[in-house]
Amino acid sequence: MRTRALGQTGIEASEIGFGAMQLGNHEWNGPDTEESIRLVHEAIGVGCTFIDTSPVYAYGRSEQILGQALAGRRNEVVICTKFGVWPDATLDYSADRIEESVTGSLERLGTDYLDVVLFHGLPPDRTAAGLAQHYKALQRLVDSKLVKAYGMSFEPPNVDELRRYVEEGGVSCFEFRFNPLAQHTIALFPELQKQGVGLIGNVPLESGWLSGKYDASSTFDIARDRWTPADIAHRAALVDELRAMLPEGMSLPQASLAFILAQPEVSTIIPGIKSSEQLQANTKAVELALPDELVAAIRALGANQAELPW
Ligand SMILES: NC(=O)c1ccc[n+]([C@@H]2O[C@H](COP(=O)([O-])OP(=O)(O)OC[C@H]3O[C@@H](n4cnc5c(N)ncnc54)[C@H](OP(=O)(O)O)[C@@H]3O)[C@@H](O)[C@H]2O)c1
Repeated sequence: MRTRALGQTGIEASEIGFGAMQLGNHEWNGPDTEESIRLVHEAIGVGCTFIDTSPVYAYGRSEQILGQALAGRRNEVVICTKFGVWPDATLDYSADRIEESVTGSLERLGTDYLDVVLFHGLPPDRTAAGLAQHYKALQRLVDSKLVKAYGMSFEPPNVDELRRYVEEGGVSCFEFRFNPLAQHTIALFPELQKQGVGLIGNVPLESGWLSGKYDASSTFDIARDRWTPADIAHRAALVDELRAMLPEGMSLPQASLAFILAQPEVSTIIPGIKSSEQLQANTKAVELALPDELVAAIRALGANQAELPW
């Protein structure tokens, strides 16, 4: 497994990271505690050491399970978690509760520091004045060595807003969606590079669509019940178009992940992992170097599409 710099944070992230939202998560039909712990250990064994979680994932259980799995192994991984969405799924982005949230994460994760902490979603007031106290609270956590770096996990609506977070707030990384079916965020990439900030690519398989196992007749429950029949038909058609571009024998999920990693602005990608098979298949994507023409063709697929709703 190769690593890439997470912007200028000083943090090295494995190119394929570990999306831990599914750990112990019944709504995703995710692995139970024992299997989750085994998966985390297996991931470390193959160098998949950038772990993305949040207080709300599986209502706190994702962080708790990671804490169990990482006992005595903390220094082998990079932990990225978030604040703003609480373990009971309530939303509260108050600046004066960031420390409380981080303390809760530290306890559940059984550690005394976090590598990265991100705003989890869009805070209600994103003006400079609305975020000033948040930046101060985050900087205090960095100064007291509880946190190494902080950033934002949402798509800034435009380049100017992205730049403002970096210049006003010292934000050093972002986490948002970019994959062959959802390429609208590529408009932000030149500014990411100019500012030297890292990008954690989430939802790299478009919530499972880029596994290739879903089609227009697929149905989804709980965690993925947000798509209308029209959304499902649209995604199915795009997947067919993408699949037709791949040389025979090339796996769709691996090609999708390799395409994302072909973008130098991306520091790490964090597919959600439910099984050993998925972990092994996803981490092997680093061995796949896509021909330039294929990367260009997949870019063109995205350029011709309207933004794919979440
Ligand atoms: N900050 C945020 O707001 C935010 C939002 C969403 C996600 N995230 C983070 O991003 C991570 C990834 O997002 P995600 O899990 O929603 O989407 P994803 O990575 O695009 O899709 C993950 C799902 O795809 C399927 N899958 C994964 N690897 C596969 C493989 N090799 N072959 C076949 N199927 C495979 C699994 O589900 P099935 O087998 O059930 O299809 C898995 O749960 C999360 O774990 C979380 O850490 C962050």
